[in-house]
Amino acid sequence: MNQRVTQRFDVSQVHLAAELLRDGKLIAFPTETVYGLGANAWNESAIADLYAAKGRPSDNPLIVHVGSMDQIRAVARDVPETALRLIHRFWPGPLTLVLPKHRDLSSRVTGGLDSVGIRIPKHPTALALLQSAGVPVVAPSANRSGRPSATTWQSVVEDLHDRIDGVIMDAPTTIGLESTVVDLTQSHPVILRAGAISLEAVQSVVPETIEATSGTDTQILRRSPGTRHPHYQPVAKVILHPWCGDVPTQLHHVQPWIGEGLEDASRAWIGLHAPPETFAADGIPWTAQERCASVEHYAQRLYAFFREMDHAGVDCIVCESVPEDGIGRALNDRMQRAAGRA
Ligand code: TXA
Ligand code: MG
Repeated sequence: MNQRVTQRFDVSQVHLAAELLRDGKLIAFPTETVYGLGANAWNESAIADLYAAKGRPSDNPLIVHVGSMDQIRAVARDVPETALRLIHRFWPGPLTLVLPKHRDLSSRVTGGLDSVGIRIPKHPTALALLQSAGVPVVAPSANRSGRPSATTWQSVVEDLHDRIDGVIMDAPTTIGLESTVVDLTQSHPVILRAGAISLEAVQSVVPETIEATSGTDTQILRRSPGTRHPHYQPVAKVILHPWCGDVPTQLHHVQPWIGEGLEDASRAWIGLHAPPETFAADGIPWTAQERCASVEHYAQRLYAFFREMDHAGVDCIVCESVPEDGIGRALNDRMQRAAGRA
């Protein structure tokens, strides 16, 4: 692919970035979840460039980001009543709704599907960019395909320097994990990807919502192509550790948490607890350990920690699982995928 000059914009230059975006250039920008790599949804060649820049499989559909409700009618054929209820409660915000696709929208955007994922983000810079561009903007996470998503503009540059036309240099993202994806094209709403808006929160508006679990329903997997490909993986091997709050202390003595062949590997820990003492039994000190103050903080830090540990050359990262509620469900999902287990 062609090398590009990646321009850096500060937040006061959003209108310049918006002009380039409208003209078919690839511009990375912050959202409340992770940084996104934007392209004009009406521009077929920009979309082809975007897949190439990320190295993204062409069957993995993109989320269309819009800055106002009237743009939704241009990309979705139908906005059912359930969608309106969720929109009213959660937009702008980290919720992507999968709706029937409008025929004017290129099937390149949707990976050949007849549905389209749409969201209005909550981030002021993202909203300013979308409103200034005045066109719907496709935006996958701004990372090389398979890598952890970018939660800082520096991570965007690390992965996509010379492959994109610009990046807006804003603060690290506050949520740190991607939006919740809800499919509304079936008889029951289905959560295809857990995210910041929890299952419980979605069910409080639409009680019949169910959750897709990758192991159980191949029909659903087919509808969610993004879940088929490897995701969120640092170079270091990711190892899951059970939630320490639930594990009886003596269990730590019998479970070989560090896999075979990795006994001498350098290691890092991230979790809500300090690493269990048994790890110290083999005499290898931690290269780094991070104890997060809350599940929200853990979510915000996970991808950045992965990248920092890769820079430090750590061999494996041990991640403590968290209870399966609220954003904990999304956090466990990303850690399982990073560990290659989902
Ligand atoms: O928080 C987010 O959603 C971020 C920010 C930038 O908005 N974007 C993001 O995009 O995570 P991406 O491309 O990395 O993930 C999009 C996910 C994929 O799993 C994809 O398969 C799914 O959404 N998706 C998109 N359109 C879909 C559709 N029509 N049907 C089923 N799944 C869809
Ligand atoms: Mg992604």
